[in-house]
Amino acid sequence: MDRFSIILGLFCCFTLTASLRIVKPPTKKLNDGREIPAIALGTWLGNNTREKNISKTCKITSHFSQHGRVEPGQDEVEHAVTWAINAGYRHIDTAYVYQIEDQVGRAVNKKIAEGIKREELFITTKLWNDAHAKDTVVPALRRSLASLGLDYVDLYLIHWPVAQFSNGTYDTADYLETWRGMIEAKKLGLARSIGVSNFNEKQIDRLLENKLEIPAVLQVEINFNLQQPSLLAYCKQKNIVVMGYTPFGSLFYHKARPGSPPPRIDDPALVEIAAKYRKTVPQIALRYLVELGVIPIPKSLTKSRIEQNIDIFDFYLELEEQNKLKDFDKNYRTIKQEKWLDSPYYPFERN
Ligand SMILES: NC(=O)c1ccc[n+]([C@@H]2O[C@H](COP(=O)([O-])OP(=O)(O)OC[C@H]3O[C@@H](n4cnc5c(N)ncnc54)[C@H](OP(=O)(O)O)[C@@H]3O)[C@@H](O)[C@H]2O)c1
Ligand SMILES: *[C@@H]1O[C@H](CO)[C@@H](O)[C@H](O)[C@H]1NC(C)=O
Ligand SMILES: *[C@@H]1O[C@H](CO)[C@@H](O)[C@H](O)[C@H]1NC(C)=O
Ligand SMILES: *[C@@H]1O[C@H](CO)[C@@H](O)[C@H](O)[C@H]1NC(C)=O
Repeated sequence: MDRFSIILGLFCCFTLTASLRIVKPPTKKLNDGREIPAIALGTWLGNNTREKNISKTCKITSHFSQHGRVEPGQDEVEHAVTWAINAGYRHIDTAYVYQIEDQVGRAVNKKIAEGIKREELFITTKLWNDAHAKDTVVPALRRSLASLGLDYVDLYLIHWPVAQFSNGTYDTADYLETWRGMIEAKKLGLARSIGVSNFNEKQIDRLLENKLEIPAVLQVEINFNLQQPSLLAYCKQKNIVVMGYTPFGSLFYHKARPGSPPPRIDDPALVEIAAKYRKTVPQIALRYLVELGVIPIPKSLTKSRIEQNIDIFDFYLELEEQNKLKDFDKNYRTIKQEKWLDSPYYPFERN
């Protein structure tokens, strides 16, 4: 974003809420002509494998039972989404497999009842691996819409290129067929825009080679440790907007995997930049993604952090600072899903 639009943003877009004064996030233009807000609240509760250490003993009984996944509480996500909308978020990222679409829907519908227009909100959800056959896509989206209590989502993503049956074995369904189902969902008006998540360049190219509609969005992991410059350049060239998940990477000591590369939250270079702009280190991490042209998806269930994470549109990082932060890129992936390494559609490097 250039200086001019920041100043413009500062002038005309102050959002006044009870206690905070933050600059409203801008939007980006999608290749289908629609607009997408430049930051989204994440709603995946995460993974507590290391804390609970049950991964090796836990028997998988359904596709939901990811190793040590955090089980959703009754209404914690509902609160988070409510706080987020109050703080100015207009984009919520969720997924069928997170099992909290109902909570997202309750919060969103309450805010709509209070006067926020449906058209002002941008709701993203994702198709799980067990509904990749073409004819199962629309019914899966209808299930998500029923949980969300909505008539349509703004963006529907294929969560992974990997296809599985609900018992976990691989389905032979080709993601080209899945994408045809997505196109059908869009034609029916159930999803206003469609895109993919965790696809690599070749997999996107294959959609295009088959003369299918171009995805509006690619959602992938992007953070200091995994900046993906060539994938970002590819998406820019194809006019595909990138949403960056796990935006904090290994920033927090308690979340960082053993052996994961720096930076951590007390990194001197980050602390210095944060002090200069009177921001926090997590805010610098998110702003850096904005400078890369990426839509960050920070997840938090904590009101103060939800408010902090959206307060990143009143400053920008100098080129010199951006170049310094580029050095943290170690091509280190946090979410590898190595359990799917033997799928023909596994999207990441296999080493
Ligand atoms: N497409 C995909 O396959 C995929 C994969 C992974 C994630 N995602 C999406 O991306 C979202 C974000 O990724 P993620 O959940 O893996 O990780 P993340 O957003 O990078 O990190 C979440 C963690 O950071 C903490 N946190 C957030 N803001 C903070 C702040 N300002 N200061 C200190 N700590 C802070 C949160 O704590 P508290 O909650 O306790 O505040 C939580 O522990 C997900 O929720 C999901 O929507 C998509
Ligand atoms: C998990 O528990 C097993 C046995 O109880 C132990 O050998 C292993 O080191 C633990 N792993 C972690 C990551 O704590
Ligand atoms: C898993 O489900 C599929 C589809 O229903 C079925 O064909 C396959 O035999 C099942 N595999 C196992 C190991 O249960
Ligand atoms: C959950 O965390 C464990 C340990 O850090 C990791 O091995 C596993 O891949 C993670 N699962 C997901 C889905 O990220």
